[in-house]
Amino acid sequence: MITEEKFIFDKSLDVFVEGEVTHKSPSNIALVKYWGKTGEQIPANPSISFTLRNCTTITTLKFVPSSRHSFKVFVEGKREASFEPKIRKFFIRIVKYCPYIAQYEFTIDTMNTFPHSSGIASSASGFSALALCIMSLERDLNPAMTDEYFRQKASFLARLGSGSACRSVYSGIVEWGRSDVFEGSSDLVAIPFNKAHKVFYDFQDTILLVDKGEKEVSSTVGHGLMYNHPFATARFEQAREHLAELKVALEEGDVKEFTRIVESEALTLHAMMMTSNPYFMLMKHNTLKIIEEVWAYRKKYDLNLTITLDAGANVHLLYPKEETEQAMRLINDKLIHYCEKGNYIMDEVSTENDDFEE
Ligand code: PMV
Repeated sequence: MITEEKFIFDKSLDVFVEGEVTHKSPSNIALVKYWGKTGEQIPANPSISFTLRNCTTITTLKFVPSSRHSFKVFVEGKREASFEPKIRKFFIRIVKYCPYIAQYEFTIDTMNTFPHSSGIASSASGFSALALCIMSLERDLNPAMTDEYFRQKASFLARLGSGSACRSVYSGIVEWGRSDVFEGSSDLVAIPFNKAHKVFYDFQDTILLVDKGEKEVSSTVGHGLMYNHPFATARFEQAREHLAELKVALEEGDVKEFTRIVESEALTLHAMMMTSNPYFMLMKHNTLKIIEEVWAYRKKYDLNLTITLDAGANVHLLYPKEETEQAMRLINDKLIHYCEKGNYIMDEVSTENDDFEE
């Protein structure tokens, strides 16, 4: 079993290096959703996601030895103090595992390859990229570190920034959270799942941008509302069942079963929001319009187009690569009219060959 002790840096150092590292890390879309947590980012149920290829964050970390820790955040070269409280919280959480950060002055410069304020959460790719940068610094201080440890601790640290970020450290299909059906799974780090049928490794994800505005309720608040939620126990149990069933569907290449589970997960996530106290709703009118259009078209042409939702109004349209032509016809004829300014982003599942290193 993996324990926190594994991730405590305990070398005594007398030389602190100065330098600069850059990492690029992708966003991910959950198939079985993480919604509800305890303690320090411990998920209430296990989750699994597709790590994407095109929606990425690129972060450069400059580090200069200093008698006291400090940092500044820039977005594409421009100071962005509004990002700093979340990152300060992250540093406070990780200092126990990375005590050397107390001896550094950091400059963090970050940018997303997807449009600003597209309503796509950048915290997963953002904290994953930042955690990878911290690990590059740690490797400078401890060159004997293995690649496996580098990635595992990056996932551990990313989780402390934003839970779902721990899955973005690996490409392809990634599981996070203790589960009886995933060997080696842990609440502390994500693990890559490499046993899916080939149809899933080139799945496409077109993100239909329904609403680019700020979310009215943050995911931190949403997770918190799962405490004392009347359906919480049943929900966490359902997620466990879905994860076990999805594993079989992924291995067997059963796309119909994949659709059933993934759509149920998306709607359950939003059902939890609508039944929280206070209740809230992140879906918009056009979210529902898109879902109805997709379901009607899928039925008419016997396709496998599948919808899923993040904690927002945008719709992720997932489909096997061979259905790209039909999906594009539906998007351009119909769905585009429900997107803000007709915007959508084409993405797909990443593979191990993707070079996310800068
Ligand atoms: O990582 P957070 O705390 O932003 O939560 C993410 C929650 C969902 O995106 C809704 C689900 C998930 O598993 O990614």
